[in-house]
Amino acid sequence: MKNKRPSLAVEIAGIKLKNPVMPASGTFGYGEEYAPFIDLERLGAIVTKGLSLAPKAGNPTPRIAETISGMLNAIGLQNVGVDAFIQHKLPFLREINTPVIVNFFGNTLDEYGEVARRLSDIPEVAGVELNISCPNVKQGGIVFGTDPKAASEVVGLVRKHLKKPLIVKLTPNVTDISVTARAAEEAGADAICCINTLTGMAVDVKTRRPRLANKTGGLSGPAIRPVAVRMVHQVVQAVKVPVIGVGGIMRPMDALEFLIVGAKAVQVGTANFVDPAVMMTIIDGIEAFCVEEGITDIHQLIGSLQL
Ligand SMILES: Cc1cc2nc3c(=O)[nH]c(=O)nc-3n(C[C@H](O)[C@H](O)[C@H](O)COP(=O)(O)O)c2cc1C
Repeated sequence: MKNKRPSLAVEIAGIKLKNPVMPASGTFGYGEEYAPFIDLERLGAIVTKGLSLAPKAGNPTPRIAETISGMLNAIGLQNVGVDAFIQHKLPFLREINTPVIVNFFGNTLDEYGEVARRLSDIPEVAGVELNISCPNVKQGGIVFGTDPKAASEVVGLVRKHLKKPLIVKLTPNVTDISVTARAAEEAGADAICCINTLTGMAVDVKTRRPRLANKTGGLSGPAIRPVAVRMVHQVVQAVKVPVIGVGGIMRPMDALEFLIVGAKAVQVGTANFVDPAVMMTIIDGIEAFCVEEGITDIHQLIGSLQL
């Protein structure tokens, strides 16, 4: 009995994951880029870079600035567009025995609906992650993500066009994230993912100019983890659907914090840039912790927070 491996399998909105660890959108390309570094089949899921209807060039450079304990990015949702993704990126992912979750956004409400419709009939897409939370571009969904009424409208529209599990990704740039979480759930979200980046700014003191061409960007990395853990805790209390926690996970113990407050799965973003194999270490570390604690099933850990 002693050597029996704990079960790390979880289910999110009907998607069966071998373990609760997956990359955060925008930090893992379309999956293929990381194939030389890690075994993609060990991941719980693969989450791809956010797609729009037409290809998007993103913001002018510089669009990355390192900060203490984190980074600012203003990539501006650069991507190949939904049709090129289906044609050129999916064939690689099809061969990997790991569920593919496709992150997407729209420039308008209609565009959100149209991208959802195009992804709906693609069998290799296990589920979609609707980004209503990008702070770097005006049309990155932040308008939808910060207003519960608009969030409800866009989630409802996507729900109408989509025959797949729907994960809604929320912005932390609001006063009370549980309000938008509930609005998304009521409008048809099968799961909630939180958080996206926090709006920030960094200034070069010599030139006295912003370090990002876009002036402001999204702060990610360890600096945001306590904020993310607090928000995931709040959202878990506010909704019945499963919650995916993301924000500043660098080590196995960081992922465990999110699981303990009730996240059913976690996403790893900025840490992938520091160590492309970090998700393997995180999966191993979660398993080792379970063995050490006598946990035979990860569900014994999820939501085990003592208050
Ligand atoms: C360079 C970069 C690009 C990102 N692109 C996207 C994106 O396309 N869609 C999205 O929903 N989130 C995007 N994000 C946000 C991440 O998915 C994640 O929510 C955020 O970085 C917090 O997690 P972390 O601290 O582990 O990086 C991006 C983040 C970074 C750093």
